[in-house]
Amino acid sequence: MTGPELAEAGRLLAAARRPVVFTGAGMSAESGVPTFRDAQTGLWQRYDPQELATPAAFRADPALVWGWYEARRRGVRRAEPNPGHRAVAAIAARLPDTVVITQNVDDLHERGGVPAPVRLHGSLFAPRCSACARPAPLPSDLPPSADPPEPHDGAEPHGGAEPHDGAEPHGGAESHAPEAHDGPLDPPACADCGAPVRPGVVWFGEALPSAALDAAVEAASGCDLLLTVGTSALVHPAAEIPLVAARLGAPVVQVNPVPTPLDAICAVNLRGPAGEVLPALVRAAWPGADAG
Ligand code: APR
Repeated sequence: MTGPELAEAGRLLAAARRPVVFTGAGMSAESGVPTFRDAQTGLWQRYDPQELATPAAFRADPALVWGWYEARRRGVRRAEPNPGHRAVAAIAARLPDTVVITQNVDDLHERGGVPAPVRLHGSLFAPRCSACARPAPLPSDLPPSADPPEPHDGAEPHGGAEPHDGAEPHGGAESHAPEAHDGPLDPPACADCGAPVRPGVVWFGEALPSAALDAAVEAASGCDLLLTVGTSALVHPAAEIPLVAARLGAPVVQVNPVPTPLDAICAVNLRGPAGEVLPALVRAAWPGADAG
């Protein structure tokens, strides 16, 4: 990111009245939430998220997929919004017609000061029945007992080299708090029909929630600036949101440390981490502003 690029992006933001901020996993990376395409850690390092985040994976091994999402949810619960989330909130506070559209399933925008982002891919905090779609309560975060959990009896993935022995289930920074075990975990049963509860997220191959998609397309169609932050722009249809804005003539500003397929349509590419670039962008747009 150079000074002239930041100044140009700041000028575009200062002139905007109806900006859209479109975010992906890189938005939360500096909060310690791994991006989708980062290598995983611990028990999960042998799995590819793109293979766990599917209806077929849940059907084949509900405990594996539910346990993975529970581990992610607990990781998010421990994370805090970073200065990038607060800078997005500062933009929305200054420009009340800002629409924040996120692909993320964490709640860091809300906790960072954006009360109602448009959620294209659902939420880790809204489980529902896999059969009748009845919303289900969030599981307690307290360990059910001090005893080590029963070993999961499914196929190969969770045994072998990484047995769960209850000694140090999470490793590193995660091990200081009492937590449910990290690993496969049977999902709760729906209170209505008894079918397994599933995470309230959109899996590969599933349709996006139509109200959220409609709201996102409408906002992108009517915006006068689209700021895309921390997305690889590889997953459709979400990745089309910046393209809609660009097609209708809105300038697109991108914040990402690396190039993406969106580079070509961007008026400005700000190479760098969201937690540094976004506060700098707010200060460039409105010198002296509280960047969050
Ligand atoms: N600041 C800004 N961008 C960052 C940062 C950072 N600190 N760290 C990483 N990035 C960028 C990466 O360079 C990458 O381009 O964030 C992007 C993350 O890409 P993905 O992991 O592919 O995440 P995302 O684009 O949100 O994925 C879209 O795919 O797997 C599905 O449903 C899932 O919502 C997700 C969707």
